[in-house]
Amino acid sequence: MTNTVNKPVLLIVMDGWGIGSGGHEDAIAQANTPVFDRLWSGYAHTRLFTHGPYVGLPAAKDMGGSEVGHLTMGAGMILDQGPTRINKAIADNSFFASSALQQVMEVVANGTTLHLVGLLSDGNIHSHLNHFKTLIEYAFEQGVKRLRVHALLDGRDVGIQTAQKYVCELEEDFAYINGNEGFDYGFASGGGRERIIMDRDYDWSKVEQGWNMMVHGQCEQRFPSMLAAINHFRERQPDIVDQDLPGFVIVDQDNQALGKMTDGDAVVMVNFRGDRAVEITEAFELDDFDGFDRGDKPDLTYAGMMVYDEDRNLPKLQLMGPTKVDNPFGKRILELGIKQFRLTETQKYPHVTFFFNGGYRQPLDESMEDYILIPSDKGVSFSDAPQMKAAEIAGKAVELIESGEYGFGLINFANADMVGHCGNMASAIEAVEAVDKAVGQIVEALEQAGGAALITADHGNAEEMLVATKTGHEPSTKHSVNPVPCILFDAAYDGSYQLRQPDAADAALAVPGLSHLAATLFEMMGYAVPDDLNPSLIERP
Ligand code: 3PG
Ligand code: CO
Repeated sequence: MTNTVNKPVLLIVMDGWGIGSGGHEDAIAQANTPVFDRLWSGYAHTRLFTHGPYVGLPAAKDMGGSEVGHLTMGAGMILDQGPTRINKAIADNSFFASSALQQVMEVVANGTTLHLVGLLSDGNIHSHLNHFKTLIEYAFEQGVKRLRVHALLDGRDVGIQTAQKYVCELEEDFAYINGNEGFDYGFASGGGRERIIMDRDYDWSKVEQGWNMMVHGQCEQRFPSMLAAINHFRERQPDIVDQDLPGFVIVDQDNQALGKMTDGDAVVMVNFRGDRAVEITEAFELDDFDGFDRGDKPDLTYAGMMVYDEDRNLPKLQLMGPTKVDNPFGKRILELGIKQFRLTETQKYPHVTFFFNGGYRQPLDESMEDYILIPSDKGVSFSDAPQMKAAEIAGKAVELIESGEYGFGLINFANADMVGHCGNMASAIEAVEAVDKAVGQIVEALEQAGGAALITADHGNAEEMLVATKTGHEPSTKHSVNPVPCILFDAAYDGSYQLRQPDAADAALAVPGLSHLAATLFEMMGYAVPDDLNPSLIERP
């Protein structure tokens, strides 16, 4: 490879593009991908592992996600991710000693209500059921008399209709606790995560609806229990995915909401991941909030599982400190004087900025870093618009490459992931084809500019659009644990190097993974690889 200093080197993330079985569930194999096929056969390539230990997640089978994927790519090493750190802190009890949790406990010690808000599943992408259970058990042990759970229903990081399983687990805990004199624990409200609260596109109407339900107990849909609500909506639409369930509140016999928030209550957001937790956090935390009319806002103490926005230090009370990346890739190359861009559409903007940066959202040096956001389609299901903004992103990328100004660029194509999350095979195929075409345009421009790119994915999704069930199969809306492709496109490739292949005998650190990309990029750019990074994947005979 020639020294490509001053030539553009890109990291192109085809979000949710895994290597599947090639069978009937594999939208990527079924799609027509002439660009990918040509690159895979013509350039050095390998398979990367993006799940479990390869990205610092607690369990071997934990699927990767865009947060952990981008954080690992940017860090260039495997770091303990949020859920791993939380689990360790729970195990060694330091979790309970945090001053934020102690403040929350003090607030509710005299009989006010502790509200837990968050995604009720064990997907381990945004939250984990065990963290709800841990907080509930701890509150009980501490003598907190009244607790309410406002549950966002998943069906996106777990099976499509699994909400009742998680609800029942907490109902069992509540039944046990409520068997003790004076304790009153239960659910207060619920709804699909795509319908309320967990927005990441500043569609405030979704957050407002959740706010009115949780805080004011206002909602047309009112049910005596979570299961009654879920069953009601399933009867009306048997194939409804949990993420799309309408919002509802739980009421008593007099139709009064069981879990309105009032002065002196405390609220804990149980989600550890920030991109979909920050909007509701703004509504709880900001004095000058103008996303929607909050009505009479009670005087509440609000805490988050982790930091959701480091630049603004939101929320103020955090049960766990942030996952620290001391020297993210973007900062390292800034110090080398390399001008860089980040480019994607809204849905993945936090990923190419603050996740890849390991914390900071805004450029450290605006003259050297351009963060370009193409607004995502709003108010449509991505299964109805599977092209998303791939063409616009490609067009912009070509412009940036042709400008000759940039030494590095990070691009994310959201299609295979976002459409994969809808569970519709035909749409997923279209999504994949849109990405293939867009990558083709970028590669062409790179060829002209003598540049290079790592073309890869942060985790799989669209290659696994169906999962087996006891009776057959059902749509899969979640990520997979399949490896992802990694191609080193190099306009000057002469066959003199290869990329390291996975070897089952290797330790996790040596298996090609997202943590090796930063070093590989340094080598592609013609710079010495910093010693502390996981090594480059480039192998020369
Ligand atoms: C989501 O937030 O859409 C999913 O839970 C995870 O998807 P991502 O990790 O690809 O953003
Ligand atoms: Co995803």
